[in-house]
Amino acid sequence: MGSLASQPTENKVTVIRLDSDGVSLLDQTAIPREVRYAKITTPDEMRHAIQTMVVRGAPAIGVAGAYGLILSARQQLQESPVTSQSMAAALLADADLLESARPTAVNLQWAMDRMRRLIQAKADHSPEEILKAVEAEALRIYDEDVAMCKAIGKHGAALVPKAARILTHCNAGALATAGYGTALGVIREAFAADPSIQVYADETRPRLQGARLTTWEMVQEGIPVTLITDNMSAWVMKQGKVDMVIVGADRIAANGDAANKIGTYLLALAAKAHNIPFYVAAPSSTVDPSIASGEQIPIEERPEDEVYWIHNEAICPEGVRFFNPSFDVTPAELITGIITEKGVFRYPYHFTSA
Ligand code: MRU
Repeated sequence: MGSLASQPTENKVTVIRLDSDGVSLLDQTAIPREVRYAKITTPDEMRHAIQTMVVRGAPAIGVAGAYGLILSARQQLQESPVTSQSMAAALLADADLLESARPTAVNLQWAMDRMRRLIQAKADHSPEEILKAVEAEALRIYDEDVAMCKAIGKHGAALVPKAARILTHCNAGALATAGYGTALGVIREAFAADPSIQVYADETRPRLQGARLTTWEMVQEGIPVTLITDNMSAWVMKQGKVDMVIVGADRIAANGDAANKIGTYLLALAAKAHNIPFYVAAPSSTVDPSIASGEQIPIEERPEDEVYWIHNEAICPEGVRFFNPSFDVTPAELITGIITEKGVFRYPYHFTSA
């Protein structure tokens, strides 16, 4: 299990770090311009950091939410008088607050549910013991996420053909997890065995996670990466330049319908049309067996200025309306396989537990 000052990670840089005076988050809004950290000291600040995507990616926001509750517990202990009951009540309120930061990725809800169960089980312990238990559970969530990503990498790498050209979308890498990544974990593992593999990253408008974050990770790893704009993917496939598509997920329903960054559905349709295998890589914390299909997945709509502005310049005249759904749902039948830490699942999917 990770110690307080340095959690184990496979990243070239640490994405989320628990310090004695708060939580340091690698500011993902600044990459690739700058590698800088935001110091988060309260649950409110953590909620804001998740909402504004200083930290983003489904597993990473689950870990960040859990660390937000460590900050909450520390805050309660500094305030006197604190009782076990008042501390547990404040922690549960902060779990609700943190969970409300973003609606689509179930990992945040999953992590908060896990922390709630822990808090309820420890509610009659001393405040100091509650803090210790909250810290230990949050660090466990972190460590387990790294382990799940590594297992996903191993299962997924076995599916990658020799010298494969792999198209990925958004960023499902070390930055989006506690470490190593899901889709990029598969790519990392495959590249270690076969350095002739190559990656296509698409830009992923409007927040450009593919252009800014995936290419940054690939360059750091020395994995050859080609950036394309979002509207090029079907044509690149048509030219025979893509052997497989691997993406992450934010929530997978019991029937295998998978929510992921907006644009994923379009890629799955294009892959189907070109007979290219389309894989989703995600830990079991992304599976939501409580919902039957993707129709029940809440899709976050983000502020219109994400579409309206590029680098502080308006890209259309005033008077235009905007629509900015941040995720879409790929129907299960378009997904060749779902790679989790437990193995590779094939259509038809029947997830009964996470
Ligand atoms: O809005 P974001 O950047 O948080 O969206 C991230 C994605 O859609 C990722 O593909 C997904 O969370 C999987 S991350 C391992």
